[in-house]
Amino acid sequence: MEFPLVFMVSSALLLLCSSAFAKTASPPSPPSVSLTPTPAPAPAPDYVNLTDLLSVAGPFHTFLGYLESTKVIDTFQNQANNTEEGITIFVPKDSAFSSLKKPSLSKLTSDQLKQVILFHALPHFYSLADFKNLSQTSSTPTFAGGDYTLNFTDNSGTVHISSGWSKTKVSSAVHATDPVAIYQVDKVLLPEAIFGTDIPPTPAPAPAPEIAPAADAPTEKSSADSKVSPQSSPDRSSSFRIISLGIWSNVVLAIFGLMVMFL
Ligand SMILES: *[C@@H]1O[C@H](CO)[C@@H](O)[C@H](O)[C@H]1NC(C)=O
Ligand SMILES: *[C@@H]1O[C@H](CO)[C@@H](O)[C@H](O)[C@H]1NC(C)=O
Ligand SMILES: *[C@@H]1O[C@H](CO)[C@@H](O)[C@H](O)[C@H]1NC(C)=O
Ligand SMILES: *[C@@H]1O[C@H](CO)[C@@H](O)[C@H](O)[C@H]1NC(C)=O
Repeated sequence: MEFPLVFMVSSALLLLCSSAFAKTASPPSPPSVSLTPTPAPAPAPDYVNLTDLLSVAGPFHTFLGYLESTKVIDTFQNQANNTEEGITIFVPKDSAFSSLKKPSLSKLTSDQLKQVILFHALPHFYSLADFKNLSQTSSTPTFAGGDYTLNFTDNSGTVHISSGWSKTKVSSAVHATDPVAIYQVDKVLLPEAIFGTDIPPTPAPAPAPEIAPAADAPTEKSSADSKVSPQSSPDRSSSFRIISLGIWSNVVLAIFGLMVMFL
């Protein structure tokens, strides 16, 4: 009979002490202003909407139209969304399509057209600096697979691209944040695998002297997705309420303990 009583008293005292401690430890809770920074929200998954990006830059409407009509946009978006490798896309401006010589893309079968569009992307993210390294390798595979490869040459910072049938260069960086790189190119990339066989070759133009104009240096516009989400802490008052609830239950328990002791 002695032991439970002592136990009751000591537990009652303990509870009283702990509730008193909880009271002093609980913050004074400023009613409105809370300047303490809340922990940063979990980083949103890096999602780059390719359609969105291409519809505001450029103009790239012709290329975007082909991307959508061939459904290649889904392949590219899926690569951007779901792979560690990422993607690098070379996008010709509308003027590059309108300046294509006569046997144009309209003569192609839908399969060939799809191949041409797939040919404009590499299944890996490459920053502009990476092309220096890439120019060491002959034949970089594209999304079109097989013989549809591209060769790169880095000429003092200007990236030249050869499709075997056409040569062009990167004229600006639209987006270059891992995992998505989008570079504007001066001409449509025509794969030799299609154009080298089906279409009679035009006489090769005399190679122009390679002078890289400084004004043409690619400007890297890394899109700063500044995600500022000012989030006030609405849980502060509720956590305080939980603390005071804890105090009340402790007080009730202590009173109950004392009552048991004196009965
Ligand atoms: C991507 O952007 C396009 C054009 O702005 C929009 O129509 C489409 O709904 C967006 N897709 C997603 C999944 O947000
Ligand atoms: C890419 O991710 C966005 C956002 O999570 C989603 O809406 C879209 O359907 C995804 N598209 C593909 C092709 O995976
Ligand atoms: C260049 O490429 C080789 C393989 O092709 C790779 O081992 C090396 O790390 C690359 N260097 C840079 C600086 O990316
Ligand atoms: C790429 O370079 C290799 C080796 O120099 C050459 O054999 C190949 O034909 C070139 N391919 C293209 C598409 O220019």
